[in-house]
Amino acid sequence: MSTEPRVSTPSQGRVTPDAAGRDAQGGTAAGTAVPVVEFAGVHKHFGGLHVLRDVNLSVRRGEVLVICGPSGSGKSTLVRCVNGLEPIDAGRLTVLGTEVNGRSADLRRLRAEVGMVFQHFNLYPHLTALRNVTLAPMKVRRMARAAAEEKARALLARVGIPEKAGQHPAQLSGGQRQRLAIARALAMDPKLMLFDEPTSALDPEMISEVLDVLTELAREGRTMIVITHEMGFARRVAQRIAFMDKGRIVEAQAPQAFFEAPRHERTKEFLSKILSR
Ligand SMILES: Nc1ncnc2c1ncn2[C@@H]1O[C@H](COP(=O)(O)OP(=O)(O)O)[C@@H](O)[C@H]1O
Ligand SMILES: [Mg+2]
Repeated sequence: MSTEPRVSTPSQGRVTPDAAGRDAQGGTAAGTAVPVVEFAGVHKHFGGLHVLRDVNLSVRRGEVLVICGPSGSGKSTLVRCVNGLEPIDAGRLTVLGTEVNGRSADLRRLRAEVGMVFQHFNLYPHLTALRNVTLAPMKVRRMARAAAEEKARALLARVGIPEKAGQHPAQLSGGQRQRLAIARALAMDPKLMLFDEPTSALDPEMISEVLDVLTELAREGRTMIVITHEMGFARRVAQRIAFMDKGRIVEAQAPQAFFEAPRHERTKEFLSKILSR
């Protein structure tokens, strides 16, 4: 488990300015049509392993995309490519108006705008909950401590753990840790949020408290990619659900169609397994 602060990740190249002068969310008058994330023919290998195969996928502003699929199908790799944690090998990946390819993308700026929440929280264990939340705004955004703390307390209240400000992660339950991780991501006012199986390390009774926070974020109109197998959540909250298998997006559909009329055998098979758990 990495606890390395993302805030210190060095930039690996230059900024690619958006020729059309759009804001980072694609938010000009005509900008709602500009995807926040766009994969076009993306491939990725780990040595001889072909983990992303011709991925074509886009996420619009305000959309919640759920990604599901068997273990090892490439889900984590796909979202890690979105904030430049993994470089792609071929194709084009554009995120918030920046082309991400590990060479030319301004990864530091991108990561400041993309919030990521992991299965295993990746909190800073030596810092209090409050400091976990204030660290990036103070370091990256140069926010004054008082303002950062005020904001952090508001965020801790929002995720339902206002009384935990002075506690360290080890003193929190799993559900509280994950809500803290979400508050930490929100502190940077991310334009896009990525969640990689945010509830799969949690005891069953803690899953819903985290899903409730995600549901609220979705209702606020945040742009989110959520890897999860919580299909009730997916049905209620996602605009689209993508099924991945062996490095490919097998299909991506609106929830009703996804559950009631999946197009591919492999999706049906997966759904029948997961829905009968
Ligand atoms: N850093 C890495 N180096 C080598 N292989 C990796 C690495 N990360 C993931 N893989 C492999 O890539 C494939 C896809 O992994 P991953 O994206 O984690 O899948 P998922 O999240 O769907 O379980 C798996 O076969 C995994 O073992
Ligand atoms: Mg994974």
